Amino acid sequence: MALTQTQQQTLIETDRGTPMGELFRRYWIPAMLSRELPGPDCDPVQIKLLGEELLGFRDSNGDFGLIQEFCPHRGVSLFYGRNEECGIRCAYHGWKFDINGKCVDMPSEPDESNFKDKVRVAAYKMIERGGVLWAYMGPPEFEPPAPELEWALLPEANRYVSKRIQECNYLQALEGGIDSSHVSTLHRFNLDDDPMHEGAHGNVYLKADTRPKFEIQDSKSGLLIGARRDADDANDYWRITPFIMPWYTIIPPFGANVIGAHAFVPMDDENCWTWSINYEPSRPLSTEEVAAMDDGMGIHVEYIPGTFRPKANRDNHFLIDRSAQRAKKSFSGVKGISMQDASLQESMGRIVDRTNERLGTSDAAIIAARRTLLRAAEALADGGQPPIALDPESQYVRSASILIPKGVPFAEGAAEALRAAPGKPFVSV
Ligand code: FES
Ligand SMILES: [Fe+2]
Repeated sequence: MALTQTQQQTLIETDRGTPMGELFRRYWIPAMLSRELPGPDCDPVQIKLLGEELLGFRDSNGDFGLIQEFCPHRGVSLFYGRNEECGIRCAYHGWKFDINGKCVDMPSEPDESNFKDKVRVAAYKMIERGGVLWAYMGPPEFEPPAPELEWALLPEANRYVSKRIQECNYLQALEGGIDSSHVSTLHRFNLDDDPMHEGAHGNVYLKADTRPKFEIQDSKSGLLIGARRDADDANDYWRITPFIMPWYTIIPPFGANVIGAHAFVPMDDENCWTWSINYEPSRPLSTEEVAAMDDGMGIHVEYIPGTFRPKANRDNHFLIDRSAQRAKKSFSGVKGISMQDASLQESMGRIVDRTNERLGTSDAAIIAARRTLLRAAEALADGGQPPIALDPESQYVRSASILIPKGVPFAEGAAEALRAAPGKPFVSV
């Protein structure tokens, strides 16, 4: 069932005042990598979230600030300002703002003026957890407890986090994250040569059965998406992906390789931040694993130096290699699992027209996720609470790739595997 124009608009627009924008502002938002703001009075960083142009900085006490980028005086970017003595000072006339958005100095106005007490910039709270700075951009009285996604709670050595700019609406990226059926096609030639995917016995099932059957259940945190493929006479191979409100997915693992997860956060309606996380609950990541991820393997990418824009991007046709495509080294000819996803999602255009889609049975998860988001936005608009925003422990779940005897419901057969616990190894075929 294709979406109506109104449903489509509700899903894709996230500026302040839109239904989805208001919903997303009730959650902690992965805003920046902790390493982008390494210490007191470090360089400020421009960051766009949900259509708002913001500036992240750390003041002289080391406290985090996230304020509107532009000076309320005459609109100069505070990015060009001076980060000094507990505030950002605009480089034009010297107005200065602290992490709370308060104007603390106004050297262009007479000494006796109280004008500065009447001027503020928008300011949002930012907290650090799991190598990420999380912003809260909603009404202060509804601030939820800190996120409890498993990867965010692990020791630093057990986790690797990257983010990249993706040049399309967040929903196109999110829908790729819950679409298990494309793995058998788009990624099929790289499951065995990517160091973060190789060697999994599940790859055999993935390649043999391109027609997974989807079963979807509501969960406390969003959805549990089960994709069933034939394994043998007695068992099915299940890949189970949790969709965690409002934009998180956990990828079903591949054999002994580290588990992966994503967050798809709108920058504005035409761009998003794709966060990619690998983690291992029961051990630190190895030097080889970290080196592979640094090289853009697995779900990570190579960047244009000094930016979060991938080297392969829409301006260069994602460096498509037609000979690799012909030689069946890469199904699409684009290198890297993550860029294979991003390239096709961006190829739809910045905002794909969902009133024109022809959805099949393998799109069941996508239909369910849209419904979950729309329902939550409606409930909020009707004065309700957004799901799980206030109940972060329900984020503490896992994905699984698992053999389950035929006929056993996946939620039953995988119940223990889907439960997160400190130090517990994940279940993966
Ligand atoms: S524009 Fe910022 S102080 Fe004048
Ligand atoms: Fe993919």
